[in-house]
Amino acid sequence: MGELQLSCTDQQFLAGERGEGARLAAQLVVALGSIYGARDLVPISSVQVAGVSYRNLGEAGLEFLQSWAEAGARVRVPSMLNPAGMDLLAWQEHGIPEAFARRQQAVIEAYKRLGVTVSCTCTPYLVGMRPRHGEHLAWSESSAVAFANSILGARTNREGGPSALAAAILGKTARYGLHLDEARRATHVIDVACPLDRPTDFGALGYLVGRMAGDGVPLLRLRAGPAALARLEDPAASRWLPHLKSLTAAVAASGAVGLCHIEGVTPETRERPDLIAPQATRLAIESLRPAYEALNGAEDYVDLVSVGCPHASLGELAQVARLLRGRRTRVELWITTARATLQEAQRHGLLEPILSAGARVMADTCLVVMPMAGRGFRVLATDSAKMAVYAPAHCGLTTRFGPLEACIEAAVTGRWQGTA
Ligand code: F3S
Repeated sequence: MGELQLSCTDQQFLAGERGEGARLAAQLVVALGSIYGARDLVPISSVQVAGVSYRNLGEAGLEFLQSWAEAGARVRVPSMLNPAGMDLLAWQEHGIPEAFARRQQAVIEAYKRLGVTVSCTCTPYLVGMRPRHGEHLAWSESSAVAFANSILGARTNREGGPSALAAAILGKTARYGLHLDEARRATHVIDVACPLDRPTDFGALGYLVGRMAGDGVPLLRLRAGPAALARLEDPAASRWLPHLKSLTAAVAASGAVGLCHIEGVTPETRERPDLIAPQATRLAIESLRPAYEALNGAEDYVDLVSVGCPHASLGELAQVARLLRGRRTRVELWITTARATLQEAQRHGLLEPILSAGARVMADTCLVVMPMAGRGFRVLATDSAKMAVYAPAHCGLTTRFGPLEACIEAAVTGRWQGTA
């Protein structure tokens, strides 16, 4: 393994010639590069920074951001944020304590001073930050990382919040891991024999694949899956978007997968004859039942329903609007999305039927990073396998996992009537 080669500009950053804030960023990126044996730093086209909710950052995290901004650091490439701990505009409506809101606003102010665009979403690729095949990125949110690598064919490691921010300030990241061809070869080849239909089936599949692959690179061969998917020019812009979003979020939640090749969909599966590593493990998935069983508790009632993990697309909001039109929710239904998507939904008249039914549409945030203590919820219904993995540990909730239609029924009746 050779020594890390730095360009003249990299060395100027490291020597503090571009300011103290930039020096700190260079130091962090170079340290990571040295640890992981990178041979150089690679320019990146965009950054997505996790570590935004004050619930996770706390006072120490906030002070860290403020001191970086104070030191004159500014991002050099387009950069967005992961969800914050509240809807930045409507936090009062959603019962966020004022003390928390003030600290969350201070976090956002610090990011603004650093030059980061205040778009708090785990789906940056739906709201203007859509990387192209082969582009290098430094993204942090695990579901977005898996989507960018697996569906769009871009290249990013699963960055931590500080390392992503450092890369944004430097405009470069260390070239190791999923930036390299070698590390993108499939370590697990998984034949998927069961039919896949609904987005939740793809989420259930992702859950199983993540458990099997750990931190490896799976290659999925969908034997009974939708043949049309593999023929699409741009699957991320097709009706399969919610399915692919569910799959990539789940695979990154139950495992530490950053790249999951899908034969015919991931660009490299059409381009690389050497895609499969010589020692790759061969596996098969015959049924999704183990995932549905693992992600479902036994309760037949629910008191909270969550839709929009990862953040809902316009198409998903349209579907929720159609399912709720003329109905009334009996228990809380929270739909999370990006601010830009919410605004577009408003322009299309999609919010009215949702809000009239008594549901909430929240931008900028998600359940997992909101302050949830003391709200009294016990059983969550969700159509997201990722949310079903996270909610027990992060929100103290038991989960029911099933299709969007079942979740909307649960919101209207307060009962869980099954995953069928
Ligand atoms: Fe996004 Fe939160 Fe789910 S960050 S992927 S909505 S857990």
